Amino acid sequence: MTATGPAEDQFANYAAMHAYMAELVAGLRADPGTGLLGDVIRRHDDEITDEELIGFGNLLLIAGHETTSNMIALGTLTLLRHPDQLAAVRDDEDVATPAIEELLRSLSIVTYLDRRATTGLEIAGHRIAEGSWLSLSVLAANHDPALVGPDAGLDVRRKPVPHLAFGFGAQCLGQQLARIELKAALPALLRRFPALRLAVPFEQLEFRTVSPIHGVASLPVTW
Ligand code: HEM
Repeated sequence: MTATGPAEDQFANYAAMHAYMAELVAGLRADPGTGLLGDVIRRHDDEITDEELIGFGNLLLIAGHETTSNMIALGTLTLLRHPDQLAAVRDDEDVATPAIEELLRSLSIVTYLDRRATTGLEIAGHRIAEGSWLSLSVLAANHDPALVGPDAGLDVRRKPVPHLAFGFGAQCLGQQLARIELKAALPALLRRFPALRLAVPFEQLEFRTVSPIHGVASLPVTW
């Protein structure tokens, strides 16, 4: 998931991951076991190709796991830095739903979307030629005063706004699953460990600066 560095390294990483998934799929064809990919094989063995299964495995790992796990860690860190809002998420079930939307909006962990202009257009005085590729900042859009007013800071009680954390148009296919996971994980974690706190000073935390999916490299906590 490193988005910087030489292209050869990125292709090599991709090839290594493809090989890993191919091996996994070959093993599951022989013995599907009890996991999700094995279940797909059990039900659709003859209908689904190895390449499709490998793609499905990659999708679950990157689109499904990288995003949600980073959102849980970064969401936890953000709440630890806002103790009053953390208490509301922990103790008030009615706050959990707007809180998840607000964390998705304010953190915008998929920080940009790539789009191609199918026609020439002008945006805020900039001429965009037909066929150009654009990198659009989800973070900027989700902090736009036109969307959230002058204070874009975290407010877990904010009435959910139509944010772009799951994209626009061809949106995230897993967004309802992600919402369910976050709504289950965050309040449960906070209730299970009411004294949860950072185990290192905030300044020592390492952030994932080279990944297109934002998050912390690790989150040392104690309780
Ligand atoms: C907090 C968690 C998640 C975030 C923030 C997130 C965000 C996104 C974003 C921004 C896109 C691009 C949409 C666009 O181009 O407009 C996307 C696409 C996608 N996501 Fe997620 N996602 C999350 C969780 C998941 C999960 C759990 C799954 C599946 C298990 C998933 C599956 C997908 C798929 C399949 C696409 C491609 C959709 C398409 O191009 O048709 N995502 N996601």
